[in-house]
Amino acid sequence: MQPGIIRFLAIAVVLISVSCQPSENSDILSDQMETQKTYKGKPITHVYDPQIDSIVSQMTLEEKVGMLHGTSMFSTAGVDRLGVPELKMADGPLGVREEISRDSWAPAGADDDFATYYPAGAGLSATWNPDMAHLFGNSVGAETRARGKDVLLSPAINIIRTPLGGRTYEYFTEDPYLNKKLTVPFIVGMQEYDVAACVKHYAANNQETNRDFVDVQIDERTLREIYLPAFKAAAQEAKAHTFMGAYNKFRGEYLCENDYMLNKVLREEWGFEGIVISDWAAVHTSVHSLKSGLDVEMGTPKPFDEFFLADPLADSVRAGKISEEEIDKHVKRILRVMYTVKGMGGEVREKGSIGTEAHFKDAYDIASESVVLLENTEGLLPLNAGGIRSIAVIGANATKKNALGGYGAGVKTKREITPLEGLENRLPESVEIRYAPGYQERYVPAAEAVFGDVTQERVETVDELDPEMLKQAIEAAKSSELAIIFAGSTRDYETEASDRADLKLPFAQEELIEKVLEVNPRTIVVMIAGAPFDIRKIKEKSPALVWSWYNGSEGGNALADVLLGNVNPSGKLPWTMPKSIADSPAHATDSFPGDATVSYEEKLLVGYRWFDTRDIEPLYPFGYGGSYTTFEIKGVHPDKEVYSEKDTIYIKAEVANTGRFDGKEVVQVYSSVRDSEIDRPAKELKGFQKVLVPSGETKIVSIPVPVSELAYYNVAKGAWVVEPAQYDFSIGNSSRNRQASFSIQVN
Ligand code: BGC
Repeated sequence: MQPGIIRFLAIAVVLISVSCQPSENSDILSDQMETQKTYKGKPITHVYDPQIDSIVSQMTLEEKVGMLHGTSMFSTAGVDRLGVPELKMADGPLGVREEISRDSWAPAGADDDFATYYPAGAGLSATWNPDMAHLFGNSVGAETRARGKDVLLSPAINIIRTPLGGRTYEYFTEDPYLNKKLTVPFIVGMQEYDVAACVKHYAANNQETNRDFVDVQIDERTLREIYLPAFKAAAQEAKAHTFMGAYNKFRGEYLCENDYMLNKVLREEWGFEGIVISDWAAVHTSVHSLKSGLDVEMGTPKPFDEFFLADPLADSVRAGKISEEEIDKHVKRILRVMYTVKGMGGEVREKGSIGTEAHFKDAYDIASESVVLLENTEGLLPLNAGGIRSIAVIGANATKKNALGGYGAGVKTKREITPLEGLENRLPESVEIRYAPGYQERYVPAAEAVFGDVTQERVETVDELDPEMLKQAIEAAKSSELAIIFAGSTRDYETEASDRADLKLPFAQEELIEKVLEVNPRTIVVMIAGAPFDIRKIKEKSPALVWSWYNGSEGGNALADVLLGNVNPSGKLPWTMPKSIADSPAHATDSFPGDATVSYEEKLLVGYRWFDTRDIEPLYPFGYGGSYTTFEIKGVHPDKEVYSEKDTIYIKAEVANTGRFDGKEVVQVYSSVRDSEIDRPAKELKGFQKVLVPSGETKIVSIPVPVSELAYYNVAKGAWVVEPAQYDFSIGNSSRNRQASFSIQVN
């Protein structure tokens, strides 16, 4: 998909553009109607089952067990004499991680493992574009193949329960519908390259604090309606070939040995036929974990033979604690995945490619659709490059690189365009750039955190400005026509294995921003972060506020193109930005992070469901994001008034671009139930469509909402139930913006 190039349109073009009359024209225009593609994955193949039976019948117990556990940091054993190769894996969600040594976390020191660094999960989800998710999956799938791997440990799709989560940047969203609509094309795209996705971390893994042992308690309805939909769609629609079991416990059982979650839900209910791989060092038993549905134990260095699914498992077979047939069942699943990805069987397998210009372009395309315009009150943006002679570029984030870092989500890349480099690349030479970092990313050691028998080293940020650096920044801002501050966070600050303590902007950035704004009111603030921060004061004071992400190899170029108007921003927040952390559901209910146990007291009211049901005003609502043009959503109507359970509601809407720039808008559909027999959130996202509309034109979108999407999970029946009721729909461009509404009846 091409980025929305901004151009002024001649009046003549406006006159011949699509007229804005609603329903009469809808039919005439139906061939031009924009609607989402459907993505469906290919299932695990059974074609080779006879060969698999024959191979397994020739294997020794030791050979079988070798396939069930890591025999290096990222592979399990093959059986050479029977033509079974190792199953090779690699992290991760932002691109294929560098080669790791076979027996330690140290990088292998290879020189052929440079990869494309793709936008982090929150950036992808801010595109609200399933085609971008497919492009991402496809591109990273090709890189996985080029590195000779069978499994990519991606996507990471846990629900963002709290803004403070260390992996919020890595995950997609707080909303289960948006989550599944991005997850499915991502996996389908990836698996088209003959590699297996590993969907992680299954499931209820929503915090880093105590992640190794915390026991998560979620009521069944909330589990089904909020935390599982994307995993279910990954198994059923995308046919993900592997899942990764999470570290933590769920209802008293570790998730890698949780019979309910692995055997009952994932396999029996959802029909998952692939393999369950443990998170690294997340297994605690041999026979119990295998019987509970785990297939492969991966982990961190201890002698690989000592893994629970290594020698201890073979001993258990010999002692009669588990049958060899049970072992065979798991080995066969692994072999089936290997045949499915053409690692066995001799079918021609995709070769892939890595770090190519085409892949950098993919990363660029995703990044350029992800940037969110939060404020532009005085029209400072887009920058008129031709009319500017000097710009002060301020902030350590202007030059910060974020590809490496964050454990499994790090990527070794030859290209990471920083925001400053992006501006240098895109601005004409006539513009003088005066760079001053202004603040420094600094940490000091803090008291260690002790959780049970785990001691974690901790650091604290230094929230003080260096007077000399501040002075330089002020001078640069004063002497320039305008200033751009690149502020926010880093992947050292937002990271796996720890949650943030609060929403405060670290390193005294707020003070810096205020001081710069005092001397130059023409200051644009660009936040680079993966999770919400407290930006209340910045919102009040700065005339232009932009949100960008850990946005991949081409992040700086994409950002510069948005600032300069070569690309019209079309990103929308994939989570709610609260005014204060106390307003956020897990915190308002005092149920984060728990201790040995954490109980999700907000239940269904995660993210905007909480803010909207409790009528709490967020700083920026879920789904929010501005544009350089203006849109009007009108002529909204469903195709009928009365529906039955098996129907699909087709909602047509006209999107008129009433401004001067071409641009993309996201039409969002939220539903609520009138007089429901049970408690339901005030509104829930049920459909959306991103659409490119040239200036002065109108496009028609058709958004399908299967009536089954309106169901709630009835715990007593153990089933999804659509209430016969009146359903109210509100259509707009954020969870709090209603531009049209209608009601339908479901009988
Ligand atoms: C993370 C996983 C990652 C694995 C291997 C774990 O700490 O939770 O997401 O894939 O390490 O690096």
